[in-house]
Parts: sequence; structure tokens; C-alpha cells
Amino acid sequence: MKRAVILISGRGSNMERLIHAERQGELAGTRIVAVLANRHDARGLTRADAFGIPVAVIDHKRYSDRESFDAALAVAIDQHQPDLVLLAGFMRILSEGFARRYAGRLMNIHPSLLPAFPGLHTHRRALEAGVRLHGCTAHFVTPTLDHGPVILQAAVPVLDGDDEDSLAARVLAEEHRIYPLAVRWFAEGRLRVVGERVEVRGRQQEGALHAPRLLA
Ligand code: GRF
Repeated sequence: MKRAVILISGRGSNMERLIHAERQGELAGTRIVAVLANRHDARGLTRADAFGIPVAVIDHKRYSDRESFDAALAVAIDQHQPDLVLLAGFMRILSEGFARRYAGRLMNIHPSLLPAFPGLHTHRRALEAGVRLHGCTAHFVTPTLDHGPVILQAAVPVLDGDDEDSLAARVLAEEHRIYPLAVRWFAEGRLRVVGERVEVRGRQQEGALHAPRLLA
């Protein structure tokens, strides 16, 4: 049984999806042992609490610099002795020390097909760039922001008439599919980081790329 801690800053829909996946036995026995947020008003906290999952807030505004916040966050995380730390809409840039401390067991879900569009406002930037395919990436976290070995990606089309909201919704549905799958693969011991890449043992074709609504 793997223990996972989820870090959030806001809505928490990926968190909620992971909790549902856990409850439905889709995470290969992974147990979500805590949800931590850097903001008291993170909406996902109420949801996590309603599921009976321990929650805590480590308010970044109470710390003078990134390193001291990250140190306090690490203390809160380590209390739960996780095998896996899952960033799910956690809107803080993490220090190099933090990324190294959890190397190989720190995952993120990012709303673009990395390495395209790291950072914020990915859907707006995808629309501005005129790309026809957009998507999301589950990846291991390294000290470089939104960079790190890719575990799984899902692609969606950018449709004529899309705005930021419609595109975000299409991508989010895929985030909710691939993040639990990445966690499941981790728990099954199928992921091996080799340099910049992730090798997936026994990868199923369907896990490599989704383009479910791609029109002819
Ligand atoms: C998601 O799009 C995630 O990829 C990004 O922030 C958003 C968080 O949404 N990092 P939610 O809090 O999981 O609903």
C-alpha cells in the first residue's frame, strides 16, 4: 500500500478525482493520507474534509522566503510518511531543495502538452499560438518549473470557436483521466525514471495518448 499526500491551492477538482479513484480501487491500493494547502480559502479543503481525509494549511504568507515555507511544508508532508506527493493545482514555485527531497516521488499535473506552454495561462497561450492540439501532462517534478520526466499525456483538439473556458474544460476532463492512471502506474511499480524520460513497464497502447474527440 502506497501513501499519498496531495497539495492544492484552489478548486481541487483533480484532488477530488484522485479521491474518487482511490475509493473505487483505481489507484492500485494507494491511500490518500492527507491534503495540504497553502491557502485557507482553497476550496478543495472542504471537499477533502468531507471525505474524512486529514487536511492542513501551511500559509505561505507566514514565511519570509521560499526556503522557509518549503521547509515547513516538508515537515507537514513528512508527518504523513508518504511514498508519493501529488501536486494538484498547487500554485507555488518549489525550491530546488524541495524538489530534490522528493525526487522520484513528486508528481504534477500540468494543463499543456509539455514542453509547450510551461507556467500559467496555458489555454490562453495555446489559443494565441494557434495550435490545433493541446492537452495535459502528468510528470515527475524536477527543480525546473513545469519540466521533468513525462509519465503520461493526453491530447485534445483546439476547435474553431473555442475560448479559454471551453478549451480548459476539455483539457480538465483529460487531466482527470490521466492523473489517476499515472498514480496507479506508480503504485504498481511500473514507472522508472531513466535520465529525462520515464519508462513504463507493460505500457498499454491506450495509455500513451488520448485524442478522444479529434474530428476528421
Ligand atoms: C489544473 O488545470 C491543473 O492542471 C493546474 O491547475 C488546475 C487545477 O485545477 N495545475 P484543480 O484545482 O485540480 O481543479
